[in-house]
Amino acid sequence: MSAIRDMVQIGPHRLYLGDAYAIRPILGWMDADVMDPPYKFKAKGAGNMRKARVATRMIVEQQLDQGFDHRIINPLLCGAAVVFCHNDQIPEVAAHLKGNFRRFILGGWSKNNPMPVANKHYLYDTEYYFHAWSRGFEPQGSLAEKRRFVSASVAPAKKFNHGTVKPEPVMDKIMTNIAGRTVCDPFMGTGSTGVAAIKAGLIFTGIEHNPDHFATAVTRVTQAYEAALAKA
Ligand SMILES: C[S@@+](CC[C@H](N)C(=O)[O-])C[C@H]1O[C@@H](n2cnc3c(N)ncnc32)[C@H](O)[C@@H]1O
Repeated sequence: MSAIRDMVQIGPHRLYLGDAYAIRPILGWMDADVMDPPYKFKAKGAGNMRKARVATRMIVEQQLDQGFDHRIINPLLCGAAVVFCHNDQIPEVAAHLKGNFRRFILGGWSKNNPMPVANKHYLYDTEYYFHAWSRGFEPQGSLAEKRRFVSASVAPAKKFNHGTVKPEPVMDKIMTNIAGRTVCDPFMGTGSTGVAAIKAGLIFTGIEHNPDHFATAVTRVTQAYEAALAKA
């Protein structure tokens, strides 16, 4: 049986419904893989408090707290990789990138409106991402665009029925630092990377295994493509 359950072509952009680990290797070379894979963290507990936190509840329900196989970040298939990760995944993701790419930085999204919960920890007000690159795929952009951190508000989880939608200003900033023309997001979710890539004039390929999120991504990427066409 094919790993590809569906493929939707939107202009030069392609969205695949299916398993990232089976599909990403057969797509071949991309200039950048930009991914927001399932985080690995302790999302259980907090009782009634957690019920009140819509995004965290969705993360648990959709099993987005189980981590991912790092081997999907493959320097033989991409010139650079942008990888979001939870605070607790930083050591293992850094170790993988250090062994596979020439340089990397730890950047992040500083949340303007974090959940007002800290317990015996810090506020959950930062989401980290690594940008790693091989020779020839060094970070692009002006000095201002080369800041490591970007501030933005949390997108409402209910809007796309997804607990980890990345805000447009964050994804737009990341695109300013990408070298090359082709961007793949193997854990596309609702298509936030695709929307930003198309706005930046790049060619996008996305993979998502959840049919509901895939449908949302198709709608969002189609709208971004039509808006780019209208602007051209
Ligand atoms: C953290 S979310 C990405 C959210 C995305 N950045 C956005 O803004 O909408 C990770 C996504 O990967 C999908 N996913 C998890 N494992 C997958 C797999 N093996 N193959 C394809 N998609 C997968 C999940 O369904 C989820 O939508």
